[in-house]
Amino acid sequence: MTKTIHAAITGVGHYAPAKVLTNADLEKMVDTSDEWIRTRTGIRERRIAANDEMTSDMGVAAARAALAQAKLDPADVEAIYVATCTPDMIFPSTACLIQAALGAKRAYGFDISSACAGFIMALDTAAAAVESGRVRNALVIGAEKLSVVTDWTSRDTCVLFGDGAGAVVLQPSPRPGLRSSLLGVDGNQAEILYIPAGGCKQPSSEETVRAHRHAIHMSGRETFKIAVNTMQEAAQEAIARAGLTADQIDCMIPHQANYRIVDAVAKRLGPNVMDKVFLNLDRYGNTSAASIPIALSEAVAAGKVKSGDKILMVAFGGGLSWGGAVVEWL
Ligand code: UT7
Repeated sequence: MTKTIHAAITGVGHYAPAKVLTNADLEKMVDTSDEWIRTRTGIRERRIAANDEMTSDMGVAAARAALAQAKLDPADVEAIYVATCTPDMIFPSTACLIQAALGAKRAYGFDISSACAGFIMALDTAAAAVESGRVRNALVIGAEKLSVVTDWTSRDTCVLFGDGAGAVVLQPSPRPGLRSSLLGVDGNQAEILYIPAGGCKQPSSEETVRAHRHAIHMSGRETFKIAVNTMQEAAQEAIARAGLTADQIDCMIPHQANYRIVDAVAKRLGPNVMDKVFLNLDRYGNTSAASIPIALSEAVAAGKVKSGDKILMVAFGGGLSWGGAVVEWL
């Protein structure tokens, strides 16, 4: 189908909490080492939100920065899509809380729960609304406070995650913005990466709290293997649907879970793709749905993205769920 209205990113911003938790700090908390964390993941430090700083607060800060870059008044925002697996509360949605805080009085909004793939899911959903003409000014936010769903006694997971938020403004454009996207889920392997308790299957109880069942549980090695294969396939399909080849991608912004995953995916895509990857996981760790918009925001601020560049985004996470997208920068 030939599109007449395209959805383009016109502003991007991010927010990172002030508190830094280094690998040296973690050495004092669990049986781990800076050397193990750096060589197995690439992470050196991560940000941790304050006790009174919620996912919605971080989302608002990132959204304000993106709106400022797009020169868009919050009152003109029509839709707010928030990708998060750590909402402030079960309901109302984080999108509602962000709408109120921004004063986006004409906007509707909802949350998208798709763990680390959430931002690409939200971007695709927002783009469909903009391309159809139903929404003109959309905010797409990825925001997470993973520190509250981290088991700080488990070295298998506590070294991996961090908090933060990123946001983009999506608006109609005569030129292609989102050139392609591809989304997928496979619920058959839901339990290799999940938070078991807190829903109706295992409601909160003293027992679920004692057993750390409100925290992220992950079969790391299994997730790693599936992540590499799935991200490679999603990236290749997104590139093909954009009518491009891997060597025509100018910048790759992957979900930032593990340096070794990104390196393996990039090498499979082509000989020089790793040189085009923007990474900041050394400073933030894995921030789930926030990782891609935070990285995009930093890449743009660092002058790594220029007009006409084709940006490949690709993510994989709990669900299992995944997404790939190619965006042409305005
Ligand atoms: O964002 C959503 C998607 N998530 C991901 O994509 C994450 C995918 N998985 C990974 O990134 C990696 O599997 C991890 C970083 C989680 C783990 O790395 P790994 O190379 O797969 O290590 P492993 O789980 O195979 O563990 C190797 C060893 C084990 O010891 P033994 O059994 O060989 O004696 C672990 O107990 O490393 C041990 N280990 C640690 N040692 C020091 C596990 N965590 C730690 C730690 N510090 N923090």
